[in-house]
Amino acid sequence: MTGLAAICSCPQKMCVALWIRWVKLNAAQAGCGLMPVECFSYSRQGRKVDSSYACWSPAWPGILAVYCPYRNHGCVACEPNQEKEMTSTVFITGATSGFGEACARKFAEAGWSLVLTGRREERLNALCAELSTQTKVHGLVVDVRDRAAMETAIAGLPAEFATIRGLINNAGLALGVDPAPKCDLDDWDTMVDTNVKGLMYTTRLLLPRLIAHGRGASIINLGSIAGNYAYPGSHVYGATKAFVKQFSLNLRCDLIGTGVRVTTLEPGLCESEFSLVRFAGDQERYDATYAGAEAIQPQDIADTIFWLMNTPAHVNVNSLELMPVSQTWAGFAIDRTRG
Ligand SMILES: NC(=O)c1ccc[n+]([C@@H]2O[C@H](COP(=O)([O-])OP(=O)(O)OC[C@H]3O[C@@H](n4cnc5c(N)ncnc54)[C@H](OP(=O)(O)O)[C@@H]3O)[C@@H](O)[C@H]2O)c1
Repeated sequence: MTGLAAICSCPQKMCVALWIRWVKLNAAQAGCGLMPVECFSYSRQGRKVDSSYACWSPAWPGILAVYCPYRNHGCVACEPNQEKEMTSTVFITGATSGFGEACARKFAEAGWSLVLTGRREERLNALCAELSTQTKVHGLVVDVRDRAAMETAIAGLPAEFATIRGLINNAGLALGVDPAPKCDLDDWDTMVDTNVKGLMYTTRLLLPRLIAHGRGASIINLGSIAGNYAYPGSHVYGATKAFVKQFSLNLRCDLIGTGVRVTTLEPGLCESEFSLVRFAGDQERYDATYAGAEAIQPQDIADTIFWLMNTPAHVNVNSLELMPVSQTWAGFAIDRTRG
C-alpha cells in the first residue's frame, strides 16, 4: 500500500473501501502505458472479499477511472466513468481461415474489439476491412514462430487494444500423415515451432495484458483429440497438442489469484483448410476425409469458444473435448505376423 486509497460508498454495502497497491509488475512489462495495480475490496467486517488486477493511469481522475473488478457484485459506486469503461478485446492468432476466422466474426458480432493475426496479408486485410464496419479491429501480419516479430507486434499494439480480455491461441497446423520413419524433419520442426513455440511466445507476451484485465480474462488454447489419443501418423502433431494441454494446466497454477482462466479446447474432426494443409493441397484426399462425416464446422468451434469466454468469472473449464457424433475411436492395432 503506497497511500493510494479511496473510499467506495457502495450503496449495496458490498465493500466499504477499495484499496489499491502497486504490484510487482511495471508499466513497461504491461506495455500498455497504464500502470498495473492490484485492487482489493474489503467487507464491513474488514474481510478481504476479492482481489483483481486493473490498470490505472495518472491521467485518469481518481479511483473512479480505474477499471472496477467488482461489477459482478453490483457495486455501482465502484463503476468507472462509463466512457472510461474498457471494451473487451480478444486477440486471435490464425484468423485468416477456419476456427480463427469464425471466431473473429462471432466476437465482432458481439461487439468485442479484435486483434487478428495471420501470415496471409491479403486475407487478413480483407477480413479486417470487412469486420471494421462492425467493431474496432487491428490486424497483425506476423508469423507466430518469429519471436522478435511477435514481440514487436505486441509491444506496438495501439492503446485502445492495450488490455486483452481474451486470447485465442489458434494458429497451428499438422503436416503429413506418413508414419514417423518416412517423415520429413523439416515438417516436424514446423509443427513444433508453430504449435508449441508460437503458442508459448504469444501467451508469454500477452500475459501482462491479460493479468491487467484480471477477473474474467480467458486464454483458450487450441489442443486436439490428437493430444489425448494416439493414432498412426499423429506422432509430432499429437505430441505438440499434448504439450498444449499440459502447458495450459501448468499455466493455471501460475495464474492463481490473477482471475485469468485457461482452457484447452480439444476438437476432433472439423472441416477447415487444416486438412488441405495437412495433405499438402490434395483436394481429393480432403474431400474423402469429410465425405458423409458431418464434421464439426468452424462456426461450432467459434460458438463454443464464445461460450467459454462468457462463463461466469469464477468458473474455469480446464479442458473441453469435442467430436462430431459420427466420430468415435478405432481399436488397438495388433501385429499378427509373429505367430
Ligand atoms: N480442423 C481440425 O480438424 C482441427 C482439429 C483439432 C484441432 N485443430 C487445431 O485448431 C487450430 C486451427 O485449425 P483450423 O482448423 O482453423 O485450421 P486452418 O483453417 O488451416 O487455420 C489455421 C490458421 O493458423 C494460421 N497459421 C498457421 N501457421 C501460422 C504461423 N506460423 N504463424 C501465424 N499463423 C499461422 C493460418 O494462417 P496463415 O496461413 O495466414 O498464417 C490459419 O489462419 C490449429 O491449432 C489446429 O491444430 C484443428
